[in-house]
Amino acid sequence: MALDYSAKVMDHFMNPRNVGEIANADGVGEAGNPKCGDIMKIYLKVNDDTKIIEDVKFKTFGCASAIASSSMATEMIKGKTVQEAWDLTNSAVAEALDGLPPIKMHCSVLAEEAIHTALNDYRAKHGMDVIPLEHHED
Ligand code: FES
Repeated sequence: MALDYSAKVMDHFMNPRNVGEIANADGVGEAGNPKCGDIMKIYLKVNDDTKIIEDVKFKTFGCASAIASSSMATEMIKGKTVQEAWDLTNSAVAEALDGLPPIKMHCSVLAEEAIHTALNDYRAKHGMDVIPLEHHED
């Protein structure tokens, strides 16, 4: 049965924003889902003075929803502070995509986790405490 994807999911899947890598990134994070095997990697360029994320790129080996979630999530944190980026939830990403099919919600979790891991990498490199990650069931 074909899943019912929103026009926004299709747009971000067919035409994803911020695909790629950042050389000498200030933070790099990866998240994977052992059930489906999808993997997402996020690269951050952070301005040391303002703590603003000046650039963000992703590489996702995964399903359409994972790619659309990475694209939307990177758009949502670009130009934000590291704190604002930390507060981005997977449900906000799914909402910005006009929703994901229920069995695809875990794909947006991958984006939240990859961003958190990248932000923690940034924190660790700058002598800050790493924040424990919350684990979503799905
Ligand atoms: Fe696993 Fe989408 S099916 S991330």
